[in-house]
Amino acid sequence: METKIFNKDQLDEAAKLLSQGQLVAFPTETVYGLGALATREDSVKKVYAAKGRPSDNPLIVTVADEEMMRPYAKEVPERAEKLIKRFWPGPLTILLFVKEGTLPEAVTGGLKTVAFRCPDDQLTHDLIAKLGKPIVGPSANTSTKPSPTTAQHVYHDLKGKIAGIVDGGETEVGLESTIVDLSVEPAVVLRPGKITPEEISEVLGEDVRVNTGKVGDKDVPKAPGMKYRHYAPAAQVYVVDDPESFKTLKLDESCGVMALGRILDTLDLPLANKFDLGRDLVDADHNLFGGLRYFDDMDQIKKIYVQGFTEGEESLAYMNRLNKAAGGHHL
Ligand code: TXA
Ligand code: MG
Repeated sequence: METKIFNKDQLDEAAKLLSQGQLVAFPTETVYGLGALATREDSVKKVYAAKGRPSDNPLIVTVADEEMMRPYAKEVPERAEKLIKRFWPGPLTILLFVKEGTLPEAVTGGLKTVAFRCPDDQLTHDLIAKLGKPIVGPSANTSTKPSPTTAQHVYHDLKGKIAGIVDGGETEVGLESTIVDLSVEPAVVLRPGKITPEEISEVLGEDVRVNTGKVGDKDVPKAPGMKYRHYAPAAQVYVVDDPESFKTLKLDESCGVMALGRILDTLDLPLANKFDLGRDLVDADHNLFGGLRYFDDMDQIKKIYVQGFTEGEESLAYMNRLNKAAGGHHL
């Protein structure tokens, strides 16, 4: 299959492919998603095949606005209204009870809940609005690989397996959306993202729990996808918790280092073995997956050392993804 790249003037063509049941990847403010008509079982099944994704891992339903979500939710409680009003369009995915019989089982994985997301991306908003129906939107990577933050990443993983990619340039946030479960009280954050538990708690006026199934936890994570190996390059990844430790590492050409620019500057290593995460944590969120992919494409790299950020709620999402990539290996 030829995988076409679409620009902002070719959304009609992309919408047409989706309406025919084909797969088209799309940009969001977090990472690229893999789109298919959410209402058609055969299209949804193609998503699992293209990604190599286990079929018990449910998909997010991506909508253009709240209106488009309503027919598929059993009810939209006031708590959901509050979060939607404050954060949509934006990087917050909300779990509600599904209205039975409105979505194929392949979307929900047979669960009683369904995840809704309304991305803050004009191209994708227009694409879904043209289609007039929601699309499923898992990250558009091959299962276990880091989520894609450019159209090129998507092409690398899925060329020949999907009909098209809408190219919206580099994504802004770089880590996937926060997922909050509103089918329970108090609300539970199942995956940390840019929107923090604290911000959600403030809007809801209730305590918010966090259950992301940390590596090594006995707790079964509630978002099924969190239990799978993830974000993992072929090389072994290590989290470097104290930036001072970089100086004590024995580094050679089989090592990749991902750190803030000012730390890289102090290390004696060829440029190709350094990946600059930027100036601060926001930059690091934006660059993390790109860096893991950069070293994954270099056969000689056997170890990747990545700077950790351990203080505060803001670093929850970054450390959650990095810990998974590292399989819990810290230095
Ligand atoms: O930022 C994002 O959310 C990106 C962009 C493309 O929108 N999408 C994304 O989708 O990250 P995905 O499929 O890679 O991750 C969705 C996570 C999975 O871990 C899945 O198990 C969980 O959401 N999930 C989906 N539906 C669920 C449900 N009903 N109950 C619990 N977890 C659910
Ligand atoms: Mg994913």
